[in-house]
Amino acid sequence: MAEKPLDLLRSAHRTALGELELLEKASVALKRNEDAAWIDLDKVFGFFDGELKVHFHHEEAILFPYLARVIGREGPIAAMLDEHQSLWRTLDVLHEKVDELKVAQPDSAGKIALAVQQISSHIVGLLRSHIQKEDNILFPLAEEALDPETLREMVARINAVEAPV
Ligand SMILES: [Fe+2]
Repeated sequence: MAEKPLDLLRSAHRTALGELELLEKASVALKRNEDAAWIDLDKVFGFFDGELKVHFHHEEAILFPYLARVIGREGPIAAMLDEHQSLWRTLDVLHEKVDELKVAQPDSAGKIALAVQQISSHIVGLLRSHIQKEDNILFPLAEEALDPETLREMVARINAVEAPV
């Protein structure tokens, strides 16, 4: 397939989808009391705290403002920002539950592990559908609405960002 200006952001989405699979797997394994799940979970949390934060920053600080000049801040952009916020809130809840599970007594661990799995599954659904909307609606819209020069300038700015500021 021909390269598109926002492929950089699409590729971050592919990475995120892989991490979501790992989260799903880890949260099921936790319920089965498999120790290896903790390693996978740490990896996923590391991804959320690192690469995903940078990716959201690329969108919130660079892509969305450029696109907002053309389509306004309401509608799709406001919806995507809401979903970003909702993801962080749900992730906080997951962190709390996971911390609870780490110190849980054997008689309550099963119930907490189930909650961890349910919250994880909510996060997986949320981020998968969010990525689908950006890939199928928002990115093609941006590539259509912004002129090639603006797109080049924008991608150069995205490439220059190493970490959130
Ligand atoms: Fe995204």
